[in-house]
Amino acid sequence: MSSEHIVLLSSSEIDKMRRAGKLAAQLLEHLGKLVAPGVSTQQLNDEAEKFTKARGAKSAPLNYAPRGCKPFPRSICTSINDVVCHGIPNSKQVLKDGDIVNIDVTPILDGYHGDTSRTFLVGNVKLEARKLVEVTEECLRRGIAEVAPGKRFGDIGAAIQEYAESFGYSVVREFVGHGIGKQFHTAPQVFHYGVRGKGPRMQAGMAFTIEPMINAGYWKTVLLDDGWTALTEDGSLSAQFEHTVLVTQTGADILTKI
Ligand code: MF3
Ligand code: CO
Ligand code: CO
Repeated sequence: MSSEHIVLLSSSEIDKMRRAGKLAAQLLEHLGKLVAPGVSTQQLNDEAEKFTKARGAKSAPLNYAPRGCKPFPRSICTSINDVVCHGIPNSKQVLKDGDIVNIDVTPILDGYHGDTSRTFLVGNVKLEARKLVEVTEECLRRGIAEVAPGKRFGDIGAAIQEYAESFGYSVVREFVGHGIGKQFHTAPQVFHYGVRGKGPRMQAGMAFTIEPMINAGYWKTVLLDDGWTALTEDGSLSAQFEHTVLVTQTGADILTKI
Protein backbone atom coordinates (compact mmCIF):
# COMPACT_ATOMS: atom_id res chain seq x y z
CA MET A 1 0.00 0.00 0.00
CA SER A 2 1.42 3.35 -1.03
CA SER A 3 1.53 5.98 1.72
CA GLU A 4 0.25 8.42 -0.92
CA HIS A 5 -2.95 6.48 -1.51
CA ILE A 6 -6.02 8.29 -0.19
CA VAL A 7 -8.84 5.94 0.83
CA LEU A 8 -12.39 6.60 -0.43
CA LEU A 9 -14.95 5.53 2.16
CA SER A 10 -17.98 3.37 1.30
CA SER A 11 -21.42 4.52 2.41
CA SER A 12 -21.44 2.08 5.34
CA GLU A 13 -18.03 3.38 6.43
CA ILE A 14 -19.32 6.95 6.11
CA ASP A 15 -22.19 6.00 8.43
CA LYS A 16 -19.72 4.78 11.02
CA MET A 17 -17.59 7.91 10.61
CA ARG A 18 -20.68 10.02 11.20
CA ARG A 19 -21.42 8.19 14.42
CA ALA A 20 -17.81 8.40 15.64
CA GLY A 21 -17.65 12.08 14.67
CA LYS A 22 -20.84 12.88 16.52
CA LEU A 23 -19.59 11.12 19.62
CA ALA A 24 -16.32 13.09 19.44
CA ALA A 25 -18.30 16.34 19.21
CA GLN A 26 -20.49 15.40 22.17
CA LEU A 27 -17.46 14.45 24.23
CA LEU A 28 -15.72 17.73 23.45
CA GLU A 29 -18.86 19.71 24.30
CA HIS A 30 -19.14 17.84 27.59
CA LEU A 31 -15.51 18.53 28.53
CA GLY A 32 -15.85 22.18 27.55
CA LYS A 33 -18.54 22.63 30.19
CA LEU A 34 -16.08 21.46 32.85
CA VAL A 35 -13.36 23.97 31.92
CA ALA A 36 -12.87 26.41 34.83
CA PRO A 37 -10.08 27.75 37.02
CA GLY A 38 -9.02 25.07 39.55
CA VAL A 39 -9.86 22.07 37.36
CA SER A 40 -6.89 19.80 36.61
CA THR A 41 -6.19 18.45 33.16
CA GLN A 42 -6.24 14.96 34.72
CA GLN A 43 -9.86 15.53 35.80
CA LEU A 44 -10.74 16.40 32.19
CA ASN A 45 -8.93 13.26 31.05
CA ASP A 46 -10.73 11.03 33.55
CA GLU A 47 -14.10 12.46 32.63
CA ALA A 48 -13.32 11.86 28.94
CA GLU A 49 -12.36 8.25 29.62
CA LYS A 50 -15.57 7.66 31.58
CA PHE A 51 -17.80 9.34 28.96
CA THR A 52 -16.13 7.39 26.13
CA LYS A 53 -16.35 3.98 27.81
CA ALA A 54 -19.97 4.55 28.80
CA ARG A 55 -20.81 4.89 25.10
CA GLY A 56 -19.04 1.70 24.08
CA ALA A 57 -16.11 3.55 22.52
CA LYS A 58 -12.34 3.64 23.10
CA SER A 59 -9.92 6.56 23.43
CA ALA A 60 -7.55 6.48 20.44
CA PRO A 61 -4.78 8.52 22.11
CA LEU A 62 -4.35 6.11 25.05
CA ASN A 63 -1.15 4.12 24.41
CA TYR A 64 -0.99 5.43 20.85
CA ALA A 65 2.60 4.90 19.68
CA PRO A 66 3.25 5.87 16.07
CA ARG A 67 6.60 4.95 14.45
CA GLY A 68 8.64 4.26 17.55
CA CYS A 69 7.24 7.13 19.67
CA LYS A 70 6.66 6.48 23.37
CA PRO A 71 3.06 5.40 23.94
CA PHE A 72 0.88 8.44 24.70
CA PRO A 73 -0.08 7.90 28.37
CA ARG A 74 -3.52 9.55 28.52
CA SER A 75 -6.92 9.51 26.76
CA ILE A 76 -7.02 13.13 25.52
CA CYS A 77 -4.53 15.93 24.80
CA THR A 78 -4.70 19.15 26.83
CA SER A 79 -2.50 21.98 25.56
CA ILE A 80 -2.29 25.16 27.65
CA ASN A 81 -1.05 28.61 26.49
CA ASP A 82 2.34 28.13 24.75
CA VAL A 83 1.74 24.38 24.33
CA VAL A 84 1.04 23.90 20.62
CA CYS A 85 -0.33 20.34 20.82
CA HIS A 86 -0.12 16.91 22.48
CA GLY A 87 -0.04 18.22 26.06
CA ILE A 88 -0.34 15.32 28.53
CA PRO A 89 -3.01 15.60 31.23
CA ASN A 90 -1.60 15.63 34.75
CA SER A 91 -3.20 15.90 38.18
CA LYS A 92 -0.69 18.59 39.21
CA GLN A 93 -1.57 20.75 36.21
CA VAL A 94 -4.46 22.98 37.16
CA LEU A 95 -6.26 25.45 34.86
CA LYS A 96 -5.79 29.08 35.91
CA ASP A 97 -7.86 32.18 35.28
CA GLY A 98 -6.64 33.73 32.01
CA ASP A 99 -5.35 30.49 30.43
CA ILE A 100 -6.32 29.20 27.02
CA VAL A 101 -6.53 25.40 26.77
CA ASN A 102 -6.98 23.21 23.73
CA ILE A 103 -8.75 19.92 24.38
CA ASP A 104 -8.30 17.33 21.63
CA VAL A 105 -10.41 14.16 21.68
CA THR A 106 -10.48 11.10 19.42
CA PRO A 107 -12.92 8.33 20.31
CA ILE A 108 -12.99 5.11 18.27
CA LEU A 109 -16.54 3.85 17.78
CA ASP A 110 -17.24 0.61 15.91
CA GLY A 111 -13.68 0.72 14.50
CA TYR A 112 -13.81 4.30 13.16
CA HIS A 113 -12.23 7.51 14.47
CA GLY A 114 -13.69 10.95 15.16
CA ASP A 115 -11.03 13.60 15.84
CA THR A 116 -11.88 17.13 17.02
CA SER A 117 -10.45 19.87 19.22
CA ARG A 118 -11.23 23.39 20.40
CA THR A 119 -9.37 26.01 22.37
CA PHE A 120 -11.35 27.06 25.45
CA LEU A 121 -11.01 30.24 27.50
CA VAL A 122 -10.44 29.78 31.23
CA GLY A 123 -12.17 32.55 33.19
CA ASN A 124 -11.19 36.07 32.13
CA VAL A 125 -8.78 35.96 29.22
CA LYS A 126 -6.83 38.96 27.89
CA LEU A 127 -8.01 40.47 24.62
CA GLU A 128 -4.74 39.50 22.91
CA ALA A 129 -5.29 35.80 23.63
CA ARG A 130 -8.99 35.95 22.81
CA LYS A 131 -8.13 37.45 19.42
CA LEU A 132 -5.71 34.60 18.66
CA VAL A 133 -8.36 32.02 19.58
CA GLU A 134 -11.02 33.74 17.47
CA VAL A 135 -8.74 34.02 14.43
CA THR A 136 -7.70 30.35 14.75
CA GLU A 137 -11.34 29.22 14.75
CA GLU A 138 -11.92 31.34 11.65
CA CYS A 139 -8.84 29.72 10.05
CA LEU A 140 -10.50 26.32 10.47
CA ARG A 141 -13.76 27.67 9.04
CA ARG A 142 -11.95 29.10 6.01
CA GLY A 143 -10.04 25.85 5.51
CA ILE A 144 -13.28 23.86 5.53
CA ALA A 145 -14.82 26.32 3.06
CA GLU A 146 -12.19 25.20 0.51
CA VAL A 147 -13.25 21.54 0.69
CA ALA A 148 -15.05 20.23 -2.41
CA PRO A 149 -14.45 17.54 -5.06
CA GLY A 150 -11.91 18.69 -7.64
CA LYS A 151 -10.31 21.23 -5.33
CA ARG A 152 -6.69 20.80 -4.18
CA PHE A 153 -5.31 20.31 -0.71
CA GLY A 154 -3.11 23.38 -1.30
CA ASP A 155 -6.30 25.48 -1.46
CA ILE A 156 -7.00 24.62 2.19
CA GLY A 157 -3.50 25.50 3.36
CA ALA A 158 -3.39 28.75 1.40
CA ALA A 159 -6.72 29.96 2.80
CA ILE A 160 -5.59 29.29 6.37
CA GLN A 161 -2.12 30.79 5.92
CA GLU A 162 -3.38 33.98 4.25
CA TYR A 163 -5.87 34.65 7.00
CA ALA A 164 -3.52 33.85 9.94
CA GLU A 165 -0.62 35.84 8.55
CA SER A 166 -2.84 38.88 7.86
CA PHE A 167 -2.93 39.30 11.68
CA GLY A 168 0.85 38.84 12.05
CA TYR A 169 0.36 35.30 13.37
CA SER A 170 2.18 32.22 12.05
CA VAL A 171 1.10 28.73 11.01
CA VAL A 172 2.82 25.79 12.73
CA ARG A 173 4.61 23.64 10.13
CA GLU A 174 5.65 20.54 12.10
CA PHE A 175 2.13 19.20 12.66
CA VAL A 176 -0.50 18.68 9.99
CA GLY A 177 -4.03 17.43 9.50
CA HIS A 178 -4.44 13.87 8.27
CA GLY A 179 -6.58 11.31 6.56
CA ILE A 180 -8.71 9.41 9.07
CA GLY A 181 -11.09 6.46 9.13
CA LYS A 182 -10.26 2.96 10.36
CA GLN A 183 -6.81 4.45 11.00
CA PHE A 184 -6.14 7.44 13.26
CA HIS A 185 -3.51 9.02 10.99
CA THR A 186 -3.24 8.13 7.32
CA ALA A 187 -2.71 9.79 3.93
CA PRO A 188 -2.97 12.58 3.01
CA GLN A 189 -1.04 15.06 5.12
CA VAL A 190 -3.19 18.18 5.27
CA PHE A 191 -0.89 21.20 5.44
CA HIS A 192 -2.21 24.38 7.04
CA TYR A 193 -0.03 26.53 4.77
CA GLY A 194 0.60 26.27 1.06
CA VAL A 195 -0.22 27.33 -2.44
CA ARG A 196 -3.59 27.30 -4.22
CA GLY A 197 -3.80 24.79 -7.06
CA LYS A 198 -1.07 22.56 -5.58
CA GLY A 199 -1.37 19.20 -3.85
CA PRO A 200 -3.64 16.23 -4.48
CA ARG A 201 -7.19 16.74 -5.71
CA MET A 202 -10.04 16.13 -3.27
CA GLN A 203 -12.60 13.47 -4.16
CA ALA A 204 -16.01 12.61 -2.71
CA GLY A 205 -15.59 9.95 -0.02
CA MET A 206 -12.30 11.23 1.38
CA ALA A 207 -12.27 11.93 5.12
CA PHE A 208 -9.55 13.97 6.77
CA THR A 209 -8.93 16.44 9.55
CA ILE A 210 -8.15 20.12 9.30
CA GLU A 211 -6.52 21.29 12.53
CA PRO A 212 -4.61 24.54 12.23
CA MET A 213 -2.22 25.44 15.05
CA ILE A 214 -1.66 29.19 14.98
CA ASN A 215 1.06 30.93 16.99
CA ALA A 216 0.95 34.56 18.11
CA GLY A 217 4.73 34.65 17.45
CA TYR A 218 7.03 32.53 15.30
CA TRP A 219 5.89 29.14 13.96
CA LYS A 220 8.73 26.98 15.28
CA THR A 221 8.07 24.43 18.01
CA VAL A 222 10.22 22.53 20.50
CA LEU A 223 9.50 19.10 21.99
CA LEU A 224 9.68 18.38 25.72
CA ASP A 225 11.59 15.37 27.11
CA ASP A 226 8.28 13.54 27.58
CA GLY A 227 8.45 12.93 23.81
CA TRP A 228 5.01 14.46 23.15
CA THR A 229 4.43 17.99 24.47
CA ALA A 230 5.20 20.54 21.73
CA LEU A 231 5.70 24.19 22.77
CA THR A 232 6.26 27.36 20.80
CA GLU A 233 10.02 27.94 20.60
CA ASP A 234 9.61 31.65 21.41
CA GLY A 235 7.15 31.15 24.30
CA SER A 236 4.30 32.82 22.44
CA LEU A 237 0.68 31.65 22.77
CA SER A 238 -0.70 29.01 20.42
CA ALA A 239 -4.29 28.07 19.64
CA GLN A 240 -5.85 25.21 17.67
CA PHE A 241 -9.24 24.06 16.37
CA GLU A 242 -9.90 20.75 14.60
CA HIS A 243 -12.71 19.04 12.75
CA THR A 244 -12.97 15.76 10.87
CA VAL A 245 -14.52 16.48 7.48
CA LEU A 246 -15.90 14.37 4.64
CA VAL A 247 -15.74 15.42 0.99
CA THR A 248 -19.25 15.11 -0.46
CA GLN A 249 -20.46 15.44 -4.07
CA THR A 250 -20.96 19.16 -3.56
CA GLY A 251 -18.62 20.31 -0.79
CA ALA A 252 -17.82 19.28 2.77
CA ASP A 253 -19.66 17.68 5.65
CA ILE A 254 -18.29 18.34 9.11
CA LEU A 255 -18.46 14.93 10.79
CA THR A 256 -17.45 16.17 14.24
CA LYS A 257 -20.51 18.24 14.94
CA ILE A 258 -23.30 17.58 17.41
N1 MF3 B 1 -5.70 14.12 18.19
C1 MF3 B 1 -4.39 14.45 17.69
C2 MF3 B 1 -4.59 14.83 16.25
O1 MF3 B 1 -5.36 15.71 16.03
C3 MF3 B 1 -3.39 13.36 17.82
C4 MF3 B 1 -3.05 13.05 19.19
S1 MF3 B 1 -1.94 11.75 19.18
C5 MF3 B 1 -1.74 11.49 20.81
O2 MF3 B 1 -4.10 14.28 15.32
F1 MF3 B 1 -1.14 10.36 20.93
F2 MF3 B 1 -1.06 12.51 21.31
F3 MF3 B 1 -2.88 11.47 21.38
CO1 CO C 1 -6.09 15.11 14.13
CO1 CO D 1 -7.02 15.73 17.28
